[in-house]
Amino acid sequence: MGAPITEKEGKPEMIIPAEQQRARGAYLARAANCVGCHTAQGGPAYAGGRSLSTPFGTFITTNITPDKATGIGDWNEEDFWKAMHEGKSRDGRPLYPAFPYTEYTKVTREDSDAIFSHLQSLAPVAQRNPPSRINFPYDLQPLLSLWRAIYFKPGLYQLDRNKSDEWNRGAYLVQGLGHCGACHTERNPLVGMRSAEGDATLGGGQIMGSNWYAPSLTSSVEAGSADWTVGEIVQLLVTGVSSRATMSGPMAEVVGQSLQHLTREDALAMAVYLKSLPESKPRSRANAPALTEEVQNWLRQGARIYKQYCQDCHGASGQGAPGIYPPLAGNRAVTMTPPINVIRSVLNGGYPPVTAGNPRPYGMPPFAQALHDGEVALVLSYIRNAWGNRASLITAAQVDKSREGIH
Ligand code: HEC
Ligand code: HEC
Ligand code: HEC
Repeated sequence: MGAPITEKEGKPEMIIPAEQQRARGAYLARAANCVGCHTAQGGPAYAGGRSLSTPFGTFITTNITPDKATGIGDWNEEDFWKAMHEGKSRDGRPLYPAFPYTEYTKVTREDSDAIFSHLQSLAPVAQRNPPSRINFPYDLQPLLSLWRAIYFKPGLYQLDRNKSDEWNRGAYLVQGLGHCGACHTERNPLVGMRSAEGDATLGGGQIMGSNWYAPSLTSSVEAGSADWTVGEIVQLLVTGVSSRATMSGPMAEVVGQSLQHLTREDALAMAVYLKSLPESKPRSRANAPALTEEVQNWLRQGARIYKQYCQDCHGASGQGAPGIYPPLAGNRAVTMTPPINVIRSVLNGGYPPVTAGNPRPYGMPPFAQALHDGEVALVLSYIRNAWGNRASLITAAQVDKSREGIH
């Protein structure tokens, strides 16, 4: 329904004052966590230089401050839109999908322009970063072009008119700006990059070049949230902790740098969308062991290690302490089939993110020195099969393999 008389005068509601556009852009850039990848440890924000190691080589992120010589000071909105939407640099070079344009392609032009105006308003930082070091044969542009031809199609988020505005907003955030699929979707082993069929399935996958598994957001035995309340999901997304789960490692970074800054409405929208995702089968599912005499003997040894090293924090029945130590009983991070995260938690320890809702998180100490592989395997096998938990046993060989993969 238009009002034809005003058409000649333009559409006043579409003209966004520059300052308002920049503020919106700053918010959207946080929702997309641009700063997370484009900032080196301890370096100036957005000046790039963070290295992302993958089996294909080490990507070094670029300077996206408005410095003319070393950043994107010479770019215009159109150049920036090409990068976000088509994954192409200013000179037309196709970019590697280590930059998640595979999801950012869904971002609207309006949002892209807002992010650009925010970036252009930053103080320019003159910082030349070393080039990425891509291994043969992935350094060959034809291979990248081939991958793009098969797996990448630029396309905007398509509204689902059968769903509420709130749901659509959540889907837009999860699939586009939030680029959850960049980690939570299996990558194609052939070229090691995300496959097109995987698009928006969020079915879980190991993060390339790291010893972390990003669990399925669609499976009730991994990190699906169909049976959670929207309030519980929001709490986990914005504070990093809840009575059922804790965000750790790369996910703690996502919460700390990005999700905790979402408005209440956007966090709710994301939760509504996540809760609605249809259940899918997890990628791998191993059976819990039959409780033979031998297995029970192992579990008893694991229980002794638990009592000595873990019980003070996680409790005699794995109940944890609300808001302080995560429960291990009924915790899917403990029982899910891919064991790499749970092994890693015990070897490396870790911290939930620092957020406004959880400003001084308690940490877990590393046990890599205190326990040998066999002991870690026993205590993990125990916590995966105590207090109503049932999951496959962990072997010393799996622990050993994880030690190698941890840097
Ligand atoms: C997961 C890490 C990651 C995130 C998140 C990320 N980037 Fe990047 N970005 C990269 C990498 C790696 C490259 C280099 C790709 C290449 O050289 O082919 C890159 C390249 C770019 C380029 C192209 C620069 C050039 O000189 O061609 C732009 C522009 C850019 N990113 C902007 C953004 C913005 C804006 C955001 C947030 C909306 C963002 N990036 C989020 C990793 C990331
Ligand atoms: C940089 C990679 C990365 C990105 C991007 C990412 N995740 Fe994660 N996520 C992980 C990893 C790794 C884990 C497993 C560690 C953990 O449980 O906290 C995880 C765990 C989770 C969990 C389960 C926590 C638990 O313990 O049950 C949820 C829910 C989740 N992510 C939601 C999201 C949503 C929603 C987004 C997008 C807004 C997102 N993730 C983006 C890597 C990522
Ligand atoms: C000093 C207290 C403390 C001790 C001792 C401790 N933990 Fe933890 N544990 C924590 C905290 C805090 C976290 C959350 C850390 C994070 O988010 O990275 C945690 C996380 C975990 C997780 C991951 C849970 C999740 O939801 O992601 C597992 C598994 C775990 N601990 C097992 C153990 C085992 C097994 C031991 C004994 C070998 C142990 N913990 C000893 C405090 C402790």
